[in-house]
Amino acid sequence: MPIDELFQRNKDWAAALTREDPEYFSRMSKDQRPEYLWIGCSDSRVPATQIVDLPPGKIFVHYNIANVVVHSDLNCLSVIQYAIETLKVKHIIVAGHYGCGGIRAAVENKENRMIDNWLRHIADIERIHRAKLDALETEEQRLNLLAELNVQEQVANVCRTSVIRRAWESGQEVTVYGLIYEMANGQLKDLGLRVNGIGQMTEIQQQEG
Ligand code: CO
Repeated sequence: MPIDELFQRNKDWAAALTREDPEYFSRMSKDQRPEYLWIGCSDSRVPATQIVDLPPGKIFVHYNIANVVVHSDLNCLSVIQYAIETLKVKHIIVAGHYGCGGIRAAVENKENRMIDNWLRHIADIERIHRAKLDALETEEQRLNLLAELNVQEQVANVCRTSVIRRAWESGQEVTVYGLIYEMANGQLKDLGLRVNGIGQMTEIQQQEG
């Protein structure tokens, strides 16, 4: 699709929305009040608002390859800080997905590319949980479990940031969740991870150990 077509599609989209709701853009341009921060994969098939059927304005997002929260990543940390301190989101969702190319690449161990440095974080998770992963029969099962373990690890990483700890200490209500998206049927699976205070985070760390 040539880039000109994107401009045309944008015009049509804006016109259709304005016909439906003449105040839409003036309302949107005033402010954003999202209740959710979504930390997901850059994969083009997992767009946050679409898969939970919410309109623009409802979810603040951060995407990177394989939805990783790294403590030296100023980009991700800034998003989390802005979401918590300025937008005052109530829910932080770490959303992984099955069939993630980043997860696969992390275990494939191919040549050195820049992305390998990023994926090292996932290779570390694989190493920590190797016994559990090796007990599975198929490669697909192993990759699926690794995608889930990655979500679990990144939920813990969100909870370890000074920003969220400060928020909890000051009594701000914010809960961190871990979900995974099943590409094959469009369903979100709840991984049962819900953390809304420092005490609960300790439980997650104990489960990991
Ligand atoms: Co992915």
